[in-house]
Amino acid sequence: MMAHGLRKVRHRCEFPLLLRLTNAVDICEVGVNRGRHLKWLAESDASHIHAVDTWHGMFELPTEDHLQDLIDWTIRRQERNRFHFHVGKSVNVAKELAKQGLSFDFIYLDADHAYESVIDDILVWWPLVREGGCLAGHNGLCSADPRKEREGVVAAVNEFVAILAEQLGVVPWAQDLLCSSWWIQKCL
Ligand SMILES: C[S@@+](CC[C@H](N)C(=O)[O-])C[C@H]1O[C@@H](n2cnc3c(N)ncnc32)[C@H](O)[C@@H]1O
Repeated sequence: MMAHGLRKVRHRCEFPLLLRLTNAVDICEVGVNRGRHLKWLAESDASHIHAVDTWHGMFELPTEDHLQDLIDWTIRRQERNRFHFHVGKSVNVAKELAKQGLSFDFIYLDADHAYESVIDDILVWWPLVREGGCLAGHNGLCSADPRKEREGVVAAVNEFVAILAEQLGVVPWAQDLLCSSWWIQKCL
């Protein structure tokens, strides 16, 4: 789906354009919070945008209101049917959506950035990515970044890419210039 545009993304705010150019229909963000990035993704032409979060507090701040704000926002846009909100833990929601037979052209992981959680998320969401589609996430792979959470993401993504490369040979993956996002394309 994305072979040509994949390496040209400079920042995650450009994903919607790429999604438009590649006719992405079903997309999903895991870890939504107040929806800053979800609102960018809304600028794609995707018919179905799935949003997954516990909405149950982050950094000791309550986040439940964010879900209602987002629902109100979709109503104001007259796009309530375009958005599907899933309240729950990432791994559980992924299993539920898999049971329902859903798959996606693009999945963006931005939930818990601890190593174990990123590994769990990658393993459980990867099967839901369509061939030619893309698994992406925040944050990028610049290991020079001192923040622990980013180190967890770096280690998890690198490990997964290495396993895939062993199985498949070449794995198209990339990151943007600011290292704010990584992405792996699923081979056709
Ligand atoms: C960094 S914020 C997401 C920011 C958003 N993607 C953006 O860029 O605007 C992370 C979110 O992930 C959610 N989260 C953390 N662990 C989770 C899990 N295991 N399952 C579902 N959501 C989770 C938190 O509630 C929080 O709202």
